[in-house]
Amino acid sequence: MKNTIVQTKNLQKTYMLGKVPVEALRGVNLKVEKGDFVAILGPSGSGKSTLMNLIGALDKPTNGKVIINGVDLSTLNDNQLADLRKSIGFVFQFFNLIPRFDAKGNVELPMTIPGLGRSERRKRAEKLLDDVGLKDRMNHTPAELSGGERQRVAIARALANNPSFLLMDEPTGNIDSKTANEIMELVEKLNKENGVTTIMITHDQQIAGRAKRMVKMLDGEIIKEIKQL
Ligand SMILES: Nc1ncnc2c1ncn2[C@@H]1O[C@H](COP(=O)(O)OP(=O)(O)OP(=O)(O)O)[C@@H](O)[C@H]1O
Ligand SMILES: [Mg+2]
Repeated sequence: MKNTIVQTKNLQKTYMLGKVPVEALRGVNLKVEKGDFVAILGPSGSGKSTLMNLIGALDKPTNGKVIINGVDLSTLNDNQLADLRKSIGFVFQFFNLIPRFDAKGNVELPMTIPGLGRSERRKRAEKLLDDVGLKDRMNHTPAELSGGERQRVAIARALANNPSFLLMDEPTGNIDSKTANEIMELVEKLNKENGVTTIMITHDQQIAGRAKRMVKMLDGEIIKEIKQL
């Protein structure tokens, strides 16, 4: 039986620029199943970040629905939405790490698993950093890490609370192409071996080619979907 993690139904978002409506999304229907690795590909302005913000419960649609693990987000109040966001593993283009904290501290910080004590949190952070290949960099601060290493820390942090899925906006947008490929190998491994459901936004065709499904957007619509090997 399939297990739908994210579904959007006729999702529309219209921004008002003064009196001028900007239709950023014009009825997007997307279904992401457990274990999927979906890349959302499209040129600048096609609505990728708008879609990510709606799926991540960071903004509300003008029309249509976002359903996460069977829950229609429009039925949730602000506290419930905040809780829901904690179940999503966000990864951003600019890493968004805390400069004062070392890698371990950055991964430990968001942990809110009930009953997880201090030393267990530390152990879990070490395990996650080991999983992303940073065993020897746990005590480095972001300034003491390369771009690719920073993004690995950000991915470990995104996994801190066993998220229901990873939601990544241009995760390789700020790193060179060789490092980007290494990051994609890590994401592929997490998807394949640990079953981490992943939605990744990118404007890079080659990066998108690493996903199992490639969804192409243009002018606020999905224009094509390609299933890959
Ligand atoms: N707050 C806003 N107010 C008005 N228009 C907006 C706002 N945010 C986005 N838009 C418009 O909505 C459309 C989609 O924007 P969006 O940021 O989703 O594109 P994108 O695909 O993420 O582009 P990029 O690759 O450049 O990040 C664009 O035409 C943009 O100008
Ligand atoms: Mg964007």
